[in-house]
Amino acid sequence: MGKKASKNALALTEDQLLKCEKALRAWFICDADPVEALIDGLDIGWGGVQRWATGRVPLSENGLHLDVACGYATFLAQLGWRFPSLQLIGLNIDFTGPHALASSLLEEAGVDASLVQADARRIPFAVGSFDSLSCFLGLQDIEIGSGEDGILATVADAIRVLRPGGILILIDEYSQERFEELLNELGVSVIEQSEHPLDIRWDEKVAAHAIHLYAEGWVDQMNLPEGDEESRAAAYREIFRRMEADCSVQLSRSGYYVPFGPVRMVVGRKWREQ
Ligand SMILES: C[S@@+](CC[C@H](N)C(=O)[O-])C[C@H]1O[C@@H](n2cnc3c(N)ncnc32)[C@H](O)[C@@H]1O
Repeated sequence: MGKKASKNALALTEDQLLKCEKALRAWFICDADPVEALIDGLDIGWGGVQRWATGRVPLSENGLHLDVACGYATFLAQLGWRFPSLQLIGLNIDFTGPHALASSLLEEAGVDASLVQADARRIPFAVGSFDSLSCFLGLQDIEIGSGEDGILATVADAIRVLRPGGILILIDEYSQERFEELLNELGVSVIEQSEHPLDIRWDEKVAAHAIHLYAEGWVDQMNLPEGDEESRAAAYREIFRRMEADCSVQLSRSGYYVPFGPVRMVVGRKWREQ
């Protein structure tokens, strides 16, 4: 797609960002059938949410930035387009299975970033290493695998690796009250709180396939013992049932299904005296 971001590259305009998203999405879904193309294609840009978020965050031009739970690096790509001089590192629990795609996605996006395989609860960097840090829709997956303790450990370690005055960006479906509780007493001043709806409307056919895929993805994150097919099937049934109930309420109310959201963002600054 584009050239790799260079130190003196100019940030892209909104129109250019949209074009980059479209081109990356076309590459990402090239082998998918039409229904899967809609569902998988959502991961690139997240229905406008990634452009909205990166357009609001106060990141320093030449800083060192860590994206935690980067998955296959879709938010890293967006950060690279928006802040071409930012030095980017992505961290994920694994880069196998679907996450093996991360480096080719970055290559295709024309974004330079290093990838580090590690647990977000124990970030393998020294105190004060980063100017800024983000976690885009990662806390919910960490919660599925390791509960509330996992989220607390992740947020505390994220703050540890930020330099004093560094910027913390958390983006998830959590309520603003929950974000505040998480950051309370951890040495971060909240400087921005906002939310954005997903610009997505799916019909019943797409919705039915999407909740099947999402329920499977949820079970994958649960860290169930390998080979325990019974627990896996039971977990799938329960999660699918909940998602299906939400889906039918939405379809009967509005005639369409919005799979996520609104997505909420909290931006904090680490206290200088820490
Ligand atoms: C929904 S994805 C987040 C989307 C991603 N930020 C992006 O830009 O495409 C959640 C990710 O969290 C990762 N994850 C789950 N538990 C983790 C942990 N303890 N440490 C690091 N990553 C974790 C999963 O492997 C998954 O890739």
